[in-house]
Amino acid sequence: MPCSVIVGAFWGDEGKGKIISYLALKDNLDFCVRTGSVNAAHTVWYEGKKFALHMVPAAFINPKTRLLIAAGANVDVKTFFDEVALTQINKKIIGIDQNASIIEQKHADQDKASAVNKGIGTTGRGVGPALEERVRRTAKLAKDIPELKAFLADEVAEVNDGLDAGKSVLLEGTQGFLLSLFLGGGYPYVTGRDTGASAIASEAGVGPTRVDDVIIVYKSFMTRVGAGPLPGEITKEEALKRGWFEVAAGTGRDRRSAPFDFDLAKKTAKINGATQGAMTKLDCIYPTCKGARKYSDLPKEAKEFIKEVETRTGVPIVFIGTGPDALDLIDRRT
Ligand code: IMP
Ligand code: MG
Repeated sequence: MPCSVIVGAFWGDEGKGKIISYLALKDNLDFCVRTGSVNAAHTVWYEGKKFALHMVPAAFINPKTRLLIAAGANVDVKTFFDEVALTQINKKIIGIDQNASIIEQKHADQDKASAVNKGIGTTGRGVGPALEERVRRTAKLAKDIPELKAFLADEVAEVNDGLDAGKSVLLEGTQGFLLSLFLGGGYPYVTGRDTGASAIASEAGVGPTRVDDVIIVYKSFMTRVGAGPLPGEITKEEALKRGWFEVAAGTGRDRRSAPFDFDLAKKTAKINGATQGAMTKLDCIYPTCKGARKYSDLPKEAKEFIKEVETRTGVPIVFIGTGPDALDLIDRRT
């Protein structure tokens, strides 16, 4: 803080939503800016309710945090309105950059009709085709949509002016680094954009020298939805046995899973310039950690695992998730 980027370490679904919602409350964030598009779902559990958000920033649980959708983001208008209603946020607290582009039904239709995309296992939400259209300079922008008029903002100016005034800003990355179009090394099994920390700042219009911290979010095991390599992949049966089996929050598809990979963790920390790390779902590999809120309450094996991650990545793990609620977390910053 005051300006942090949240980036996913693997293929998305690391639990970024949980870390963001915790920071919204704990650090009383002034701004949270969501990047990316509707293919990514961020899950927030708070006060017994579960939200899977595709548009509204995960910081919504703090009613004072200004919620913004970045200039580089892609907006699904219906999903936006559905989530504004679902989260019951004050409509004045959320804004969409006027230059964000719009994803339309035709983009989803094109995505689903493409044999290449079927092989890759895209989410079918149309993000690739919508971005193609933006590059062709024929896309609709938020300022072209009459229903969005009341929500239009200049996100780039608001956030940069906020930083000038010493306000705290969190830039909410979506998906995971290894799905990056440019950097993850997995082409063509990638998404339609760069998902790295620099790109997250770029989509929000924040220059690299203004970013203070890059928080990389790891999960205690790895998951991937759709096709493409997953080193160390285990069977669904084995995943069920270990308690690692998950279903995608956005599409309902099975997530494939694998044990934590230290070499990948090191590579992603380095390329993203991570200064801090979060480890979510520690309770999934060490069940006795469930609900712990103090580091000293963790069993020895869990502490050893965290230590090994720190040693091998060079990144201090300052946030540790021990359960689904936003507040089921160990904060080691103080
Ligand atoms: P697309 O982003 O819908 O074009 O899909 C490209 C690839 O990225 C597919 O393997 C998807 O399953 C994956 N993907 C896209 N968004 C997410 C996400 O938020 N979480 C996990 N995987 C994702
Ligand atoms: Mg997700």
